[in-house]
Parts: sequence; structure tokens; C-alpha cells
Amino acid sequence: MSPLRSTTISFIGAGTMSEAMIAGVLNKGLVEPHQIRASHPRAERRGELAERYGVSCVASNAEAACRGSLVVLTVKPQVLKHVLRELRGELKPEQTVLSIVAGAPIDAIATGLLHSAIGRAMPNTPAQIGRGMTVWTTTPQVQEKQRSQLQALLGALGRELWVDDERMLDMATALSGTGPTYVFLVMEALIDAGVHMGFSRRVSEELVEQTMLGSVLFALESHKHPAELRNMVTSPGGTSAEAIYQMEKGGLRTVLSRAVYAAYERTQTLSEAVTKSVTGE
Ligand SMILES: NC(=O)c1ccc[n+]([C@@H]2O[C@H](COP(=O)([O-])OP(=O)(O)OC[C@H]3O[C@@H](n4cnc5c(N)ncnc54)[C@H](OP(=O)(O)O)[C@@H]3O)[C@@H](O)[C@H]2O)c1
Repeated sequence: MSPLRSTTISFIGAGTMSEAMIAGVLNKGLVEPHQIRASHPRAERRGELAERYGVSCVASNAEAACRGSLVVLTVKPQVLKHVLRELRGELKPEQTVLSIVAGAPIDAIATGLLHSAIGRAMPNTPAQIGRGMTVWTTTPQVQEKQRSQLQALLGALGRELWVDDERMLDMATALSGTGPTYVFLVMEALIDAGVHMGFSRRVSEELVEQTMLGSVLFALESHKHPAELRNMVTSPGGTSAEAIYQMEKGGLRTVLSRAVYAAYERTQTLSEAVTKSVTGE
């Protein structure tokens, strides 16, 4: 039975990620459209969501929030301060808030809302097709039942992983949240390399896309470490050995490591800025 069967879910700022969650929970049959309410400032967007999913849409964030047993904050970090001010003091203690706002620490949301039952999640863009990786945590005030509800909701975006330490959310922001960017850049570079050799762009794209997809599925299904899979195809003096030599010489491993760590440090700086903007401290 769906853990979400007795819930009402309010999405505040129903943009791309809200829509992914709405589509996900409806497609999985976890909720009925009447259990969902969404707020959006633009009438056109409200009409679009109502027509597409049969959910109820309102202009007022406070009006949407007061109805939800789960209240999901999906606005951009820049408007968070404004939205928290609108919702401040409006929520009942039994309501659970879930924020997916990048770089917004739980403390800042709790202070902004005067509320303590809060979950914070970091999804990534493949969530838009139900293939995301979401890392999330909750405050101790979120009860077991509500945690199962959040798990079901986030599961609609793909895989989810609960962690007990909020610091891991910043780490996940750098690794899985920003992760698709690393993959897309590598894909782009390989496609260009194919074109450089003489493939048409369309053929090069097909070769690279299927190679990446197949390699990831192979790694998952074989349960082998990537180094082992790589060693399996690296014959002495062969093409893989030559390619690996050039990648190591060019510092690919170091560049990736530095990129992830730089994204981690940037996340921490952005979190401080969001906290300052929300709490004024
Ligand atoms: N997209 C991802 O893959 C991803 C991954 C991890 C985290 N996140 C986080 O998830 C949050 C949502 O991302 P998203 O991609 O869904 O963004 P989005 O598509 O821009 O959704 C946010 C929506 O909020 C609306 N909005 C603007 N001002 C508002 C207000 N005062 N009250 C209510 N709604 C308002 C925006 O309307 P307009 O369209 O008119 O501006 C927009 O439709 C962000 O904080 C982002 O950092 C996203």
C-alpha cells in the first residue's frame, strides 16, 4: 500500500522539479490528483499543470502550504527568502516540510519558517525522467511515518539515499547533484573526438551515447570495480593502454577530483550566502 495514500502534498513553486515529482507519484499510482496542490505565480503555468495532471493549482504559496501534510519547497534559492517570509508561522507542527532548494541549509529553513519537522534533499537533473539520484536527510522531529512518505515521494525521481548527516548533502551536491555536468562534458569531448577522426556528428553521438549507457549498465550488473573492468580490456601495448597513458598524462583523474572538490567548496560558500539572505545573519 502506498505510504502516501493518506497524505496531501503541496508543491511551492511548481517548476521543473515539482512537475517531475508530480508526474512520478501519479504515474506510480502513489497518490490521486486530488491529493496534490501546487502554487505558482503565473496563471499560465497553473493552467498547464491543472490540465496535464488534474491537480489543483493556486497563486498563493500560503494557501497551498496550509493544506499539505507534506509541503515541498521547490523554488530557486534567490526567491527562498521571500517564500519563507510568506509561509512563516503558517505551518502546523504536524506538517512536514521538504526542501530541494540547492544550498539551503535546514537551519536556515527552520529559522525562516519557525518550523522544525524538515527534510532536505539534493536531486539531480535525470530526476526529470525518473532516473535521478537523490540524497536526503531529515531533522529528528520528522517521525518515522513521515520519513517513509518522503522516501516514497523522492523515490518517484529515481534512486534515493537517506543520510543522517546534513554535511553529506553538500558533498552530494558536488558529486551527484553536479554529476551530470561532468558526464555531459566528457560525452561532448568524446563526440568531438569522433568528429575529429571523421565520423558525422550524428554517428559519433550514437556511438558515444550507447557506449556510455552500456558501460554504466555493465558496471552495475557485473558488480565489478571500474578499474577491474578497465583492466579486463587493457591488453599490453594495445589501444586502451595507449589511451589510458594519454589520459593520465593529461591529468584527467586530477582534473575531475579538483572539479568535484571545487564544486563542494562552492556549495559551502553558496550555503553561507543563502543562510545570510534568509536569516539576515
Ligand atoms: N533541476 C534540477 O535538476 C535540480 C537539482 C537539484 C536541486 N534543484 C533545486 O530545486 C529547486 C527547483 O528547481 P527547478 O529546476 O524545478 O526550478 P524551476 O523550474 O525554475 O522551478 C521554480 C519555479 O518557482 C517559480 N517561482 C518564482 N517565484 C516564485 C514565488 N515567489 N513563489 C512561488 N513560485 C515561484 C518559478 O516561476 P518562473 O518560471 O516564472 O520563474 C519556477 O517555475 C531549485 O532550488 C534548485 O536549486 C534542482
